[in-house]
Amino acid sequence: MTKLRVGVIGTGSIAGCHLDAYLDNPDVDLVAVCDMNLERAKNVADRYHAQRAYGEVDEMLADPEIDAVSICTWNNTHAEFAIKAIEAGKHVLVEKPLSRTYAEAQAVEKAVAGSDRVLQVGFVRRHSPNCQVLKSFIDEGELGEIYYAKASCIRRMGNPGGWFADKEISGGGPLIDIGVHVIDLCWYLMGSPKAVSVSANAYNKLGNRSHIKTMPRYRAADYDPEKNSVEDMVNALVRFENGASLLLETSYSLHAPKDNLSVSVYGDKGGADLEPGLMIATEKHQTILNVTPQLASSTFQLKEGFQNEIDNFVAACRGEAEGLSPAWHGAEIMKIMDAIYASAESGREVSLV
Ligand SMILES: NC(=O)c1ccc[n+]([C@@H]2O[C@H](COP(=O)([O-])OP(=O)(O)OC[C@H]3O[C@@H](n4cnc5c(N)ncnc54)[C@H](O)[C@@H]3O)[C@@H](O)[C@H]2O)c1
Repeated sequence: MTKLRVGVIGTGSIAGCHLDAYLDNPDVDLVAVCDMNLERAKNVADRYHAQRAYGEVDEMLADPEIDAVSICTWNNTHAEFAIKAIEAGKHVLVEKPLSRTYAEAQAVEKAVAGSDRVLQVGFVRRHSPNCQVLKSFIDEGELGEIYYAKASCIRRMGNPGGWFADKEISGGGPLIDIGVHVIDLCWYLMGSPKAVSVSANAYNKLGNRSHIKTMPRYRAADYDPEKNSVEDMVNALVRFENGASLLLETSYSLHAPKDNLSVSVYGDKGGADLEPGLMIATEKHQTILNVTPQLASSTFQLKEGFQNEIDNFVAACRGEAEGLSPAWHGAEIMKIMDAIYASAESGREVSLV
């Protein structure tokens, strides 16, 4: 079978993770990269030995020698570029979040439904071995019925600046940027239940903390400390149709003594911490047991996660595997996040039925 010919749209910070993984996949030919900053695109094309560098997305999508694209641009472009790419006959891997709003996500879903192309959402943490092992235990019924999940994704050092801090471009702050990962992990492990109501709070108390110079932070390719129109902290309670619930907290800036990333799910036969390290709790012979699956790493590893995500996408495009994160999953997560913002805005519970 011939190689999948790939183009990468957006050549900023996260694009490197996609490009490294494409280069390490023997079934891929990296054809082109594209960025509205053409200089950046050219430099990245040189570094990764891509044949072409484009400054315009439409030009890249018109390239008949490209079968599939990764979309690694700002959130305000995700839905538009994904739809255009599908219409141009390309398979699509679009970075998280799928879009800025649920309405945009529904438009993507519609475009995908009317085509025979693959669209995958970049929920990279699903592809981590700790998540896949836990998912297989859950699918075999080892935890019983999952009725509660809890996730915390706390950064304390401030937002990544630039477009991440501009609500019009990003769609929101830590919720849509980093909270999205842990909401998705819980929802995926819970078996993709339908959300029925959301109660949430959003705060903007500490701002972007750009005055703090002593700690490193994730930065947009174009960091600009002047921009800051997004929330810095969100908490939320999501109820699902099957009676299960999810408790979430996420921040860019918080007076917390340390960053935290934790994800747990609890069922009537067992529970598990996925992060900060996979461990399963259950009981046997009137005794509580903590069981630790032995993995090369019990926690998410960036390089491994992206390699698995890209390998899964490439295999799905070639018809050799089922993609792990279809468009409707991305849309359901957007529906929950839209409701979280709406509840925080109104100060009331939002019903989704
Ligand atoms: N999966 C993850 O863990 C993860 C981590 C970080 C970022 N991301 C996602 O990746 C995306 C990019 O984030 P980043 O940190 O790389 O941002 P970035 O600002 O570093 O890079 C984005 C690039 O997109 C380019 N771009 C923006 N709009 C464009 C347009 N209309 N046409 C062409 N190029 C355009 C910019 O010039 C820039 O080079 C975001 O959606 C973000 O949510 C995902």
